[in-house]
Amino acid sequence: MFDLIMKNAALPDGRRNMDIACQGGKIAAVERTITAQAGEIIDANGQLVAPPFVDPHFHMDATLSLGTPRMNISGTLLEGIGLWSELKPIQTIEDIVERALSYCDLAVSMGMGAIRSHVDTCDNDLKGVQALLHVRETVKDYLDLQLVAFPQDGVLRDPTAMDNTIRALDMGVDIVGGIPHFERTMSQGADSVRILCEIAAERGLMVDMHCDESDDPMSRHIETLAYETQRLGLQGRVVGSHLTSMHSMDNYYVSKLIPLMVEAGVNAIPNPLINIMLQGRHDAYPKRRGQTRVRELRDAGITIGFGSDCVMDPWYSLGRADMLDVALMGLHVGQLSSREDMAWCFDAVTKNSARIMGLDGYGLDLGCTANFNLLQASDSLEAIRLRAHRLAVVRKGRVIAKNAPINTEMRLDGRPSLVNPAAYSPNV
Ligand code: FE2
Repeated sequence: MFDLIMKNAALPDGRRNMDIACQGGKIAAVERTITAQAGEIIDANGQLVAPPFVDPHFHMDATLSLGTPRMNISGTLLEGIGLWSELKPIQTIEDIVERALSYCDLAVSMGMGAIRSHVDTCDNDLKGVQALLHVRETVKDYLDLQLVAFPQDGVLRDPTAMDNTIRALDMGVDIVGGIPHFERTMSQGADSVRILCEIAAERGLMVDMHCDESDDPMSRHIETLAYETQRLGLQGRVVGSHLTSMHSMDNYYVSKLIPLMVEAGVNAIPNPLINIMLQGRHDAYPKRRGQTRVRELRDAGITIGFGSDCVMDPWYSLGRADMLDVALMGLHVGQLSSREDMAWCFDAVTKNSARIMGLDGYGLDLGCTANFNLLQASDSLEAIRLRAHRLAVVRKGRVIAKNAPINTEMRLDGRPSLVNPAAYSPNV
């Protein structure tokens, strides 16, 4: 007798007609046919069952604040940072908690299982930190929330940011963040990378730094981040987020840089929706896309997760917590159009991001935590194509969200029919 059995599932690795049994919050069996009884049995009807979506880069303290106190008119990163500075003093801890919990509900309904959120530490009251520590505890049974201490205004540029960032870590924020390209000079940016990596090494923490998020081809902070990672023995624990400058860098320089990143075991998190919107704003035509060199980094062996970064905040007015939107945009901007590349884009919002975040028990293997989604799609490529409807969200072996399948009733003259967006299969 199991708690739940999901029958007749397609899995992301290509296996079909598989049954998954859950017991005590864990995956207890993954077999062709499981005949045992269960408290609840769901027929997947051959559709995709995949581990939860993982968002490795988000800003939960700012989410759902769109329009407060005003809109970002220029659409640039820098106006967004300015607008956020106007919002910070007028928002309360309760405001942030309310918006963050609303977002978590939305995210879970979209099949999200884990989020790494940066939280601004340039605030003497640390309102965002207090709010998100509370939210992390509130949602822990169904959503893994990792927090990054993020000195948005520059850990050296802002006079109290260093003390406040250390206070945030003392309060229980998990990861050390930074923003070297926003410091006053290139050399202060490099200093900030060194100092923050030393803090992480002393405390045994991971590092996730906004790094070279600009169109400046001379921005070199990822080089420093790779160097400090190696010097301090932080291999595998460090992320360069955004890395958009790499798009514009000289090719010869990048041919040296990527092997340095590989040596250091630095992971990369591009944020396709945001950076296709923000980058190249100072360009006439041709206009740069600005997304980092995803294919080249991946082919060199660097682990890449796609992040969503923002939903309805000073930097981005759209978004719906759908990591399939993120995968779709990353696929297009990176021209990752082969079937293998598209399947990899699904991995970039699931298992690769889980690896970067160091999530325990993630996946569909025996003994993993029984967390998975049933999607209205036959495989991971179709899931991206359709931004597939979430039919069921299972956490710790229990259905915590469900939807009826989309079947649109058509009333065309003399030709009534049902249209199911997942009913068209390619001849491949
Ligand atoms: Fe970000």
